[in-house]
Amino acid sequence: AEPGWTETTDVVVVGSGIAGLTAALHLREQGLHVTVVTKVNIDDGSTRWAQGGIAAVLDPLDTPQAHAYDTEIAGVGLCDPEAVRVLVEEGPARIRELIRRGAEFDRNPDGSLMLTREGGHRADRIVHAGGDATGAEVQRALHEAVHRDPWIRLVEHALVLDLLRAADGRACGLTLHVLGEGSEDGVGAILARAVVLATGGMGQIYSSTTNPSVSTGDGVALALRAGAEVTDIEFVQFHPTSFVSGTVNSVQRPLISEALRGEGAYLVDETGTRFMVGQHELAELAPRDVVAKGIYRVLRSTGADHVYLDARHLGKEFLEHRFPTIMASTRSAGIDPATELIPVAPAAHYASGGVRTDLHGRTSIPGLYACGEVACTGVHGANRLASNSLLEGLVFAKRIADDIGTEPPAQAEPVSDSAGPGWVADPAIRAELQRAMTRGAGVLRSADSLAGAAKELSRLAEHRSRPNTAAWEATNLLTVASVLVANAQTRRETRGCHWREDHPTAADEWRGHLLDAIGTDGLL
Ligand code: SIN
Repeated sequence: AEPGWTETTDVVVVGSGIAGLTAALHLREQGLHVTVVTKVNIDDGSTRWAQGGIAAVLDPLDTPQAHAYDTEIAGVGLCDPEAVRVLVEEGPARIRELIRRGAEFDRNPDGSLMLTREGGHRADRIVHAGGDATGAEVQRALHEAVHRDPWIRLVEHALVLDLLRAADGRACGLTLHVLGEGSEDGVGAILARAVVLATGGMGQIYSSTTNPSVSTGDGVALALRAGAEVTDIEFVQFHPTSFVSGTVNSVQRPLISEALRGEGAYLVDETGTRFMVGQHELAELAPRDVVAKGIYRVLRSTGADHVYLDARHLGKEFLEHRFPTIMASTRSAGIDPATELIPVAPAAHYASGGVRTDLHGRTSIPGLYACGEVACTGVHGANRLASNSLLEGLVFAKRIADDIGTEPPAQAEPVSDSAGPGWVADPAIRAELQRAMTRGAGVLRSADSLAGAAKELSRLAEHRSRPNTAAWEATNLLTVASVLVANAQTRRETRGCHWREDHPTAADEWRGHLLDAIGTDGLL
């Protein structure tokens, strides 16, 4: 379809979490006009759900080398050392910038930033806000900063469809569907000299996830359709402790921050035994994949759907002060962590892979950038270290803005006018897709389980629909799920958060990156 309306700006940013809004603010410092498009409302992405905090070297006794070491251990051989160096060295300055923009982090009585610890970190280096409401505070501060700038145009209820390319292949804008605007079907185009994808993750491919309902892999799906390189997509991190409650019954599950374990809570099985002790030197604070696997083994042997987190010894006063978000969500479901065990289980949490970028956030398509969870900058490898994701958004958003600002390209004319994928999936497949992925390509995978998931996805792809927002989302879910399964089938080893029952160890021959299985048949 022809776009029903067209707008022009300097840079279009897709997504309004920490990555997108930080990129927009830095682009303004370069004197560029920015349009931020977001699928629902500005605050509806994952950022505001983040609890634990942002990792950075802020303690004089800590070092960037130590932060890099912990990041690379968690990433099990697949981190790009240069990208990690950039992350840990530039992180502290970006956090100070965020504070100057208005974010208020928790402080010690002497005014210094209060630092905590999470899984995989060997030092206290995580800043937090409102106790366990870090993401909400960061989102508030960025939202307000963006609203103060009249040259950042915000378009809400806008679902991106496809990238527009110039004759020389450069990205020069995108098509999108804006609810209630333009032509009959609301499809329009924004032309820009550069496009920044900051669409977040894809947790909604599973039946239980810490991600909000908007996390449907839209940016990765767009990039795949445009032919951009996508990599490491098989590495989906499962957070060990999402809240399992008889009353909360939605795909998005409340997070029970790792910081609760950082402050001393234990994981116990139904007999009250601490099962992580002896499995790893850091016990409950081992890297996330190790803890998720430890829990999963208990669940498989007991048949239960949860283990427990014991935080009772931390005391009511401390828990209420330090973890108000967790206390509110558990108490609203009838569990009081000050006196009761908290039922928890792993849930899909973070896509470590994504649209492949270089150290300036450039993708394989000139003019197309990716930032935050949608990107694969190389900092996370096979398993992201806790609290490195907000940090990645901050650090690479600035690098992208610097790159675009250095030499803003001339606006090019699009040669393609495609609006949306060639076909769209039936939105009714969403729950079935989530079940198939959870069963076949979840925490634990095997050749058989993945073949089952692949078969189910092919069957679901036969269900087509008329184009509308829900159908485009279902199409994106199906696209990213299919690539994930194909990559997981190809990677015949266990590494980081990719756990193959039939190939239980890491293998040197697989120490490399898989592009999306559509784009390549080998390791990079
Ligand atoms: C948490 O608070 O446990 C989440 C931290 C993260 O995902 O980095």
